[in-house]
Amino acid sequence: MFRKIKTIAILLFGISYSVFSQEKIAIYLDDTKTISERVEDALSRMTVEEKIAMCHAQSKFSSAGVPRLGIPEFWMSDGPHGIRPEVLWDEWSQAGWTNDSCIAFPALTCLAASWNKDMALLYGKSIGEEARYRNKNVLLGPGVNIYRSPLNGRNFEYMGEDPYLSSKMVVPYIQGVQQNGVSTCVKHFALNNQETDRFGVNVNVDDRALYEIYLPAFKAAVQEGKTGAIMGSYNLYKGQHCCHNQYLLNDILRKEWGFEGVVVSDWGGVHNTREAIFNGLDIEFGTWTDGLTMGATNTYDSYYLAKPYLNLIKKGEVGTKELDEKVRRILRLAFLTTMNKNKPFGSFGTQEHALAGRKIAEDGIVLLQNKNNILPIDLSKVKKIAVIGENAIKMMTVGGGSSSLKAKYEINLLEGLKNRAGKQTEITFARGYVGDASGSLDGVNTGQNLSDNRSADVLLAEACTVAKNADYVIFVGGLNKSEHQDCEGNDRLTLNLPYNQDKLISELAKVNKNLVVVNISGNAVAMPWVNEVPAILQGWYLGTESGNALAAVLVGDVNPSGKLPFSFPVKLEDNSAHALGEFPGKNGQETYNEGIFVGYRWHDKKNIKPLFSFGYGLSYTTFEYGKVTAEKKEITSSDKITFTVTVKNTGKREGSEIVQLYISDLKSSLPRPVKELKGFEKVSLKAGETKTISFTIDKAALSFFDDKKHEWVAEPGDFEALIGASSTEIKSKIGFTLK
Ligand code: GLC
Repeated sequence: MFRKIKTIAILLFGISYSVFSQEKIAIYLDDTKTISERVEDALSRMTVEEKIAMCHAQSKFSSAGVPRLGIPEFWMSDGPHGIRPEVLWDEWSQAGWTNDSCIAFPALTCLAASWNKDMALLYGKSIGEEARYRNKNVLLGPGVNIYRSPLNGRNFEYMGEDPYLSSKMVVPYIQGVQQNGVSTCVKHFALNNQETDRFGVNVNVDDRALYEIYLPAFKAAVQEGKTGAIMGSYNLYKGQHCCHNQYLLNDILRKEWGFEGVVVSDWGGVHNTREAIFNGLDIEFGTWTDGLTMGATNTYDSYYLAKPYLNLIKKGEVGTKELDEKVRRILRLAFLTTMNKNKPFGSFGTQEHALAGRKIAEDGIVLLQNKNNILPIDLSKVKKIAVIGENAIKMMTVGGGSSSLKAKYEINLLEGLKNRAGKQTEITFARGYVGDASGSLDGVNTGQNLSDNRSADVLLAEACTVAKNADYVIFVGGLNKSEHQDCEGNDRLTLNLPYNQDKLISELAKVNKNLVVVNISGNAVAMPWVNEVPAILQGWYLGTESGNALAAVLVGDVNPSGKLPFSFPVKLEDNSAHALGEFPGKNGQETYNEGIFVGYRWHDKKNIKPLFSFGYGLSYTTFEYGKVTAEKKEITSSDKITFTVTVKNTGKREGSEIVQLYISDLKSSLPRPVKELKGFEKVSLKAGETKTISFTIDKAALSFFDDKKHEWVAEPGDFEALIGASSTEIKSKIGFTLK
């Protein structure tokens, strides 16, 4: 009897001990439990010091996990166009690994120019696989800041001037990345639309522009894309730094949009412990704290959310409620990424990814002009092609700031054209101009020696000589990733092309009528020679397979199908930020005087004809649109309405056409743009083929943000649905009424 009692007693003690002691069943490790159960269990086991450690960096690109509980640390990596080479623990420059040369994908302006959601998914999947393979848990991208001015240095990393296009293109990118168990970190939230004074400029913008123009792509990233993280921007809004901003992070991101993910600061974007505690920041990165030099070894203990935060808690000056909220969100992200046992293994530097990048590049290249159809070049009839210009040989995957990469390889246009032409056509080259002969960033070197100390006149004369007796001349110029070009950290100083290219292009046009200008840029540029040049191609920063993609379009293997994601103004003053504002601001203030009238919204309002309009792009074939029809003449606010239009390929070869739907509110109580993009569809058509495209919209597409009521409003009245091949080529329209 006694023995039985003893056995039962031991058994009871054992069970009770395991239940109530630290050894209780590790629910947080059990992925059959819900994420919130696992979060609460993990949180309950953590000390305050462990919680604090999770809220700030421990190295340049990593933040702490909880080693004692087997919760791994987070590894972040730039960037939106490819996975940055490994850096040393606390350095920006690369660590010199030999297995981290990535595939460089096209810049996001090119992805946006494809207007192809399938390409966005392919892009996200591919770059997500590269990140996963390198065990990066958070990809610091994509960027979706709106293209407000053609001078913004980082527009090449973003998706253009229209919030609807950016919203629709960012969602599949996020989904593609996150299916790899890697989280995106959509940036830079918000109003980071210039590089000048980026750490300190306070942006003044009215609520209508904020909600109708600058926030929608982030809202789509959160509510449709379900991005696991958001990066705060460096600038200020309403006097608070955006990395710890009550209005943007607590009021809008969390309360209005229901964001459950993690807010990461931009690197060095945190300036205040109390604001960082209470205004919605979760993880602090890249801080240079007061009294410490850059990179001092114990910097991380001195981060605003490190010892200073712990001290405030220990002194009882702040509680731990906010800390627990931060850590809950970080743990949730961990269960979706670092601790997700089902995530794939990824792949890195593969031919599959290179071909994906090439496909995206080919889908985003925009044919802007093609007089007398001199393009495509029929290689069977051409003996000699002269390629002129530094951008035909300059590697562009290195440079431009944090999106710079160590690419496994990069094919430039000269190489791509030679690859494609083979022996049948002689390809000659002349430098034409010397722009930026440098070729390294953060310890990554292109290996090119572009030095050339000949004078501009000598280079010009050589170019004209080489061009004169060629069947075709392909000038490859534009911008590059140097300072005051397409580059993080500073803005362009002019809309004009640098390095005297305008003169060179005009001279080339005089010596050869078969001149094609390929503009490599992430921004609009002035083209004073536009009427002297028969053909113009907008090539973006196209990454690893640049030259092959451009060659394929030039010789007609690929029929170009991209359309511009932003307007090309004739002159800077035609752009609203420059017509109405003092871009880039003064005394630390930048006011968006143009409000909602950004890009084509401004051109429409003031009847300003752009050089090339938003949504514009040609093809090697032609398309004919039928008349748009509507399924009904009037709708109530709970209805949907479908518009239908036929498109026919009236040319001799297959091609894809991007059909655009714009909505016009004919009468509204508040000022509205003449029209706004509310639908698009890219459709492939064989020669002679006709397809029917339908667009179904609801009241959301009719609404504007009423800043007085602080809500979206669809006002009853008359509207028009306009079908366009671009924002300035409206093919047909039809009226309808919202009752
Ligand atoms: C940079 C950029 C940001 C980047 C981060 C890490 O300053 O603003 O886009 O992801 O710091 O490199």
